[in-house]
Amino acid sequence: MNLLSIWELEKKQLEEYVNLALEVKKNPGKYLHSLEGKTLAMVFEKASTRTRVSFEAGMTQLGGHAIFFDFTTSQLSRGETMHDTAKTLGRYVNIIMARLYKHADLLEIAKHAGVPVVNALTEEEHPCQALSDLQTMKEHGKLFAGAKFAFVGDCGFNMANSLMLACAKAGMEVVLVCPKGYPPNQKYLKEAKKYGKVEIVNDPVAGLKNADIVYTDTWISMGLEDEKAERTRAFTPFQVNAGLLSNAKMDCIVMHCLPAHRGLEITNEVIDGKHSVVWDQAENRLHMQKAIMLKLMGKV
Ligand code: CP
Ligand code: NVA
Repeated sequence: MNLLSIWELEKKQLEEYVNLALEVKKNPGKYLHSLEGKTLAMVFEKASTRTRVSFEAGMTQLGGHAIFFDFTTSQLSRGETMHDTAKTLGRYVNIIMARLYKHADLLEIAKHAGVPVVNALTEEEHPCQALSDLQTMKEHGKLFAGAKFAFVGDCGFNMANSLMLACAKAGMEVVLVCPKGYPPNQKYLKEAKKYGKVEIVNDPVAGLKNADIVYTDTWISMGLEDEKAERTRAFTPFQVNAGLLSNAKMDCIVMHCLPAHRGLEITNEVIDGKHSVVWDQAENRLHMQKAIMLKLMGKV
C-alpha cells in the first residue's frame, strides 16, 4: 500500500486518515512502540523543513528510525537510476518517502521498491500536506459539505491539485482564484469536477466572496525559480492581504502550507492575524505523518 496522490483516495479513505491523525494527536502514548525496529528512508531531491522534520520526529515517536537520504550525497547524483535505487532501498528499509521533481520518478520508485512509498511532494501533488490540511479544517469546524474553499494564487501546481481534489471529495465548494494566464491544471480540474462544484474565478475580490477557507501557497514553487519575475508580476493582484481578506466570511480561516514568502503571496498582517491557522497546519503535519506510516505499515 502506497500514498502517492489524493487522486487515488476515496472520500472514505480521506476521512479515515483525518480521524486517525486526530486520534494519534489526542493519544500519542498509545503508539509509542508501534513501529519499533522499523526504518524509514527519506529521499529528498528538493528542500524541506516541515516534511523532513515531521516525518523524522514522527518515526522516532512511533519507536522506529528514519534515514535522511539526500540526492546530492547519494549515487543518484552520479547517475544511478531510480529503478536501481528503489530496488536497493527496498532491501534495507520498511517504508520510503520521497520528495522529487518528477512525479514519474516517484511512480518508478513505487513500482520497484517492494515496500510502501509515500509522496512527500512532486510537481503534481502534495498529498501529506492536503491530508493534514483536512485535519486542520476539521479542528476549526470548517470541514463540512458546502463550505466554500478558495485557493488563491498559483492554482496550477501541486498544492492546488491535491487540495482541489481533497476539498471536492469532502463535499466542499471549490473556487480557484487565479490570473487568466496561469490556469489550473486541466487534468486535475476535470477530475475534481466529478466530485462537486469547482469554479475558476479570475477576479480576486469576487473569488473570495463568502469564503470559509482562504488558502494560498507560494507563486514560485520549487523548480519554477526561472519564472520568478513574470510570476511575481502576474500574481501580485492575488496577494492575500487584509483588504482582500475582508471579502471572505467574518469567521473565515486563512491557510498556507508554508514556507510563506511574507509580503508576496501573503502579508505579515494576515499570516500573523486572527484568521490564520498556519501553525496548526504545520503541527498537524507531524500527527498526519504518523497516521500515514501506521496505516501503510498495517498497524491500524
Ligand atoms: N509544507 C511543506 O511541505 O513544507 P516543507 O517544504 O518545509 O517540507
Ligand atoms: N508549491 C510549493 C509547496 C511547498 C511545500 C512547492 O512545490 O514549492
